[in-house]
Amino acid sequence: MDFLSQFIIAPSGQHLKLLEFLAVLIYAIHLPYIAMVIGSTALAMWLTFSDHELPTPHFARLADDLLRTFLGNGLTMFVLGVLPLLALPFVYGQWFDEVLLAPLGYIVMPIPGIFLGLACLRMYRASYSGRKTAFNRHMGMGLLGLALLLGSYFVLISSVTRLQDPEKWYRLKNLVILLLNWNVIYKFLYFVHAAFAITGVGILFFMFRWSNRSTVDDPEYAAFVRKFGAGMALAFCFALPVFNLLYVFTSPDVVFDGTVYLLAVANVFLCMVIAYMMLATLRARHPRFLVSSFVLVLLVFITSSTFDVRAMANANREHAVLLETQAEKEKMEREANIEAAMAAASGANLGEETFNKVCMQCHRFNEKLVGPPLAQVLPNYTLETLKAFLANPNKSMAGYPPMPNPGLTQAQIAAVAEYELSHYKAASGGAAADTTQTQTEVTK
Ligand code: HEC
Repeated sequence: MDFLSQFIIAPSGQHLKLLEFLAVLIYAIHLPYIAMVIGSTALAMWLTFSDHELPTPHFARLADDLLRTFLGNGLTMFVLGVLPLLALPFVYGQWFDEVLLAPLGYIVMPIPGIFLGLACLRMYRASYSGRKTAFNRHMGMGLLGLALLLGSYFVLISSVTRLQDPEKWYRLKNLVILLLNWNVIYKFLYFVHAAFAITGVGILFFMFRWSNRSTVDDPEYAAFVRKFGAGMALAFCFALPVFNLLYVFTSPDVVFDGTVYLLAVANVFLCMVIAYMMLATLRARHPRFLVSSFVLVLLVFITSSTFDVRAMANANREHAVLLETQAEKEKMEREANIEAAMAAASGANLGEETFNKVCMQCHRFNEKLVGPPLAQVLPNYTLETLKAFLANPNKSMAGYPPMPNPGLTQAQIAAVAEYELSHYKAASGGAAADTTQTQTEVTK
């Protein structure tokens, strides 16, 4: 098992990049959907209420169309609304592995509220046809669902936004402090405005392009829907850059790098292009730019969530560096372990090999060659003194030239010294072994 754990990769810079990508992907799937659900429900409620006060057939028909178009069936709700939210805490949990922070808890906290809100909206939609008899119940259900969603997203957005401000983490034990911050409030207002902007563009896209509903059969209704959708998208796309800039200006300095600035500028630019398209749609006799404006509004969501994820990564760069050095250290340790294991496996041979290759050039055990017979000199040595001598030969016996430094590595010195002393002990029997023993004790 120990052996296996050597191959598990510690979180590194690469790993964090992948998590950033996953977070953006989750937001890109989830946020446009939930924004359209919130925007369309709020509009449907307003239209229903107006129709209730002063019957207006177009209003009632559009409310019905909105409810049937945007919430989607059970599968849509699960894939776009539920699944991404369940994945989100895991991504952030991986990012902030081992630094359990209060904001992480706040990412999980709003999730049940969001599910409950979606369930309320399903019931709200189901009670639409019976609204004449149970108007208050119908509207109450819608209000409850909207309130749950808006409240939950306020908490979710603020905890994600606050992860971009590591210095303040220690103060975030309290939920109220988490929410009361201009940066957070601007981000939330941005989200609400973006919800109405994408709903406006979505009305045009889904009702004129996507579905084969008979919107266009009735030219009067079609003109009403076109003006309603385009007018709303125009107004909110104009307002969006304001909140975007307020949000950017109140973000802490640590979050900024070239990419983040570029994303903020791209976001404003995209809103302007969509506003222009909506203006053209209002002036024309038929809706225009249906697909391109919807793609652009999705890009608005993607750039804004990439901005947030990048900003969070920048703010926590130190954390990334920490993980990186830790991974590097672990890697070196693993390699050192492997090397040591290999050395241990071949250590017995290393001593003998070195002796045969190097020492045998000048020494024999019992004969005099260039150097003295080793059996004669080894009794004077312990393992430690022999190692010291081999690292730096500096003695001179009468009748011999000085021994040149054999230039061995530490591992070779240790191995050859051990090999020789044990060899000598074995060759000269117990008596010699005793001498070495006593000498070892003396040197100690
Ligand atoms: C180029 C020849 C040469 C090589 C290679 C060589 N030696 Fe020596 N060695 C000598 C000579 C010459 C002396 C005698 C110098 C002296 O008086 O210490 C000596 C002396 C020694 C001594 C005794 C030192 C003392 O005076 O107490 C030891 C122990 C020794 N060698 C071990 C080794 C070992 C182990 C190796 C292999 C790693 C080795 N030598 C390789 C030439 C060599």
